[in-house]
Amino acid sequence: MVSRRALLTTGAASVVIAGLGGTWWATTGPATSARAPWRSASAGLGDPRLNALAYAILAPNPHNMQPWRIQLEEGLRFTVFADLARLLPETDPPDRQITIGFGCFLELCRQAANESGYRADIAYFPEGEPQPRLDQRPIATVELVEDRSVQTDPLFATALGRRTSRFEYDLSRPVEASVLRQLEAASVDGVRVATTAEAGLVHELKTLCSDAWQVEWSNKATRQESIEVMHVGRAAVEDRPYGIALDDRINSTLGKAGMVSPEALDDPESMAYQESFKFYDKACRSASAFVWSTTETNSRSAQLDAGRAWVRVQLAANAAGLSFHPLSQALQEFPEMAEPYRRAHELLANEDGQTVQMLARLGYGPAVGASPRERLESKLVEV
Ligand SMILES: Cc1cc2nc3c(=O)[nH]c(=O)nc-3n(C[C@H](O)[C@H](O)[C@H](O)COP(=O)(O)O)c2cc1C
Repeated sequence: MVSRRALLTTGAASVVIAGLGGTWWATTGPATSARAPWRSASAGLGDPRLNALAYAILAPNPHNMQPWRIQLEEGLRFTVFADLARLLPETDPPDRQITIGFGCFLELCRQAANESGYRADIAYFPEGEPQPRLDQRPIATVELVEDRSVQTDPLFATALGRRTSRFEYDLSRPVEASVLRQLEAASVDGVRVATTAEAGLVHELKTLCSDAWQVEWSNKATRQESIEVMHVGRAAVEDRPYGIALDDRINSTLGKAGMVSPEALDDPESMAYQESFKFYDKACRSASAFVWSTTETNSRSAQLDAGRAWVRVQLAANAAGLSFHPLSQALQEFPEMAEPYRRAHELLANEDGQTVQMLARLGYGPAVGASPRERLESKLVEV
């Protein structure tokens, strides 16, 4: 009989993981649950790479497209590729945000590996930086090395509790300066993270985010791109646990009644269109503070570093009890967004030439649940 390790190193890991189903699902609930990967992440899969990857797939990423494809290789190595069918070319023409998501993925992978005594040696873009779009070349190679001197990361304690929160925040509760300093300090080399709770700048940023949202939602191509990856109702999200999940009770009910559908969402006269617009506009205007990040260059490696910094900042925010909502519209590179993009850089970049990579609102909001995730085994491929 072939041992589990042998199967893994021959790249047939998906077979092995499927075979582990009994114990895995016993600890995580029904196999159909779109949120099960959050519950199973700590279960242990018998291979340090899979144990780390079970956390990496929980990374924040644009529209929850989860564009990761992972090839397991000899030893404790693996290569990470982009699933080119999961990009967002209308809202993210240069794949900058998708690349940031990969940075978040690699940072969680590193933290999880460190937690179990492995160093993660990560090499970015071993076959060169893909430009102007991502292509079939690898995003990164990762090798895990057992290392007694490796330090665990305190931010990892929040990995399973990290949430993106799109609800309104309690604006009567200010965010303390000391908490904002913790977020700034969570960054990595090469990425400047800055914050503000100053009323004038907070007001300008709310207006910027709201204006930029209006541009994105009223522009047909960008709106349709988002609508295409919206999944309405529980069954749809169980079936396709990626994209924008509209599976709360209200949307599920309205979906069944045909009131929330791709056609309705795309029709400016419909309730679904108008309520979607209002929901996000209210969010843009509900901020006690903002956090953003900038890099000196906009190379692919800088984007990965921006992603590593970003998930760290979000972990630090959530650990401090803060709600966190990225608002990326004004940083997007499609032509209709040129004016908000210019304003965002004028307000937030320190010097000409810097790229504002991320922007999020902060505050104290209601508790929110985890977003859906596809199962790890569906991400293992042979390229
Ligand atoms: C690069 C990047 C850009 C994002 N931009 C937005 C955004 O503009 N609006 C938003 O609501 N969420 C945004 N998000 C959050 C993602 O939608 C979120 O991470 C994803 O849906 C998964 O949910 P989770 O973070 O709760 O796991 C962004 C995340 C990343 C990494």
